[in-house]
Amino acid sequence: MPLPPKLHQAIEQKLSTTNLKALSKAASELSESYRAQRSKHNTFMASENHRLAYIATRMPATFAANNAVFSEVQRLLPEQKIQSVLDLGAGPGTASWAATQTFSEIQNITLIERDPALIQIGKSLSQTAENTGLQNATWMQKDLSQLPTFPTHDLIVCSYALNELSLDNARQVLNAAWSAARVALILIEPGTMPGFALIRQLRDDLIQRGGHLIAPCPHQEPCPLPPDDWCHFSQRLNRTSLHRHLKVGHLGYEDEKFSYIAASKTPIVPAQARVLRHPIRRTGHTQMQLCTQDGLQNITVTRSDKPNWRRVKKTNWGDAWS
Ligand SMILES: C[S@@+](CC[C@H](N)C(=O)[O-])C[C@H]1O[C@@H](n2cnc3c(N)ncnc32)[C@H](O)[C@@H]1O
Repeated sequence: MPLPPKLHQAIEQKLSTTNLKALSKAASELSESYRAQRSKHNTFMASENHRLAYIATRMPATFAANNAVFSEVQRLLPEQKIQSVLDLGAGPGTASWAATQTFSEIQNITLIERDPALIQIGKSLSQTAENTGLQNATWMQKDLSQLPTFPTHDLIVCSYALNELSLDNARQVLNAAWSAARVALILIEPGTMPGFALIRQLRDDLIQRGGHLIAPCPHQEPCPLPPDDWCHFSQRLNRTSLHRHLKVGHLGYEDEKFSYIAASKTPIVPAQARVLRHPIRRTGHTQMQLCTQDGLQNITVTRSDKPNWRRVKKTNWGDAWS
């Protein structure tokens, strides 16, 4: 899903007076920090140009990941009303924007972010939102690791932020966030080995705290993936011409890889399985790798299996399968 038009326009407006060469340099430094996982040392968004490069190049990608996760959570929790959202490590408010696109009943949003300059950018973007909860959102300039508790909200999301904390602090934030969640807690991290390692660790903590995993895991059993593999998913997003220019890329799209975990306060009927890779489609049959309660399974659906054949054609990496 592309950025909401109002957000896209507000970002373009903000960038219109910025020197493109400086922005381009900041964008490549951001990519380099991201690849090197340097964010723990506070160099991730060190200048205003880095912040602007973030909203130009990273915000559309993290928005796409958030949007995919929220759509899946809404599908699995159809009875639950999400009226309030707490966005932890909010940056420019990406997760909150995505939440308002999926959960139309949102009325209250609180965003916690430590960087005051990023809050300024986020606030001015959110002024353009159609959702009044986002327009009038409460922004708190705080360090997550210094807060023993969080205010209670229906949905709590922490998107691409916990990897910037030490593991101990990330676990402490998870504990406080779980206590404050009325309906569900969602954690999203880069779809890399370290991103997934963090999600896997926090998954165990969530189970210990009595969380009901709803996605992507179709069970509460130990994660069956071997240590050299990582559970991640992908969202394709179109690049604008500015985005292409800043990323020095020729492709009109990019694939954002992400890992995530979503837990509900109340039990749900889980999916039976989750598709862990792109299905391999051949003439007359399709192979899929699934995560199930009984571990990893490779299945083949053949054309002669009519009902499943029809379903498998519409099934993609990351979808539930039963
Ligand atoms: C990669 S950005 C992600 C922003 C946004 N959530 C998104 O998905 O686009 C990580 C954000 O977490 C914030 N952050 C990192 N550690 C934090 C802390 N201890 N307290 C509050 N915010 C923190 C950073 O300032 C940054 O804005």
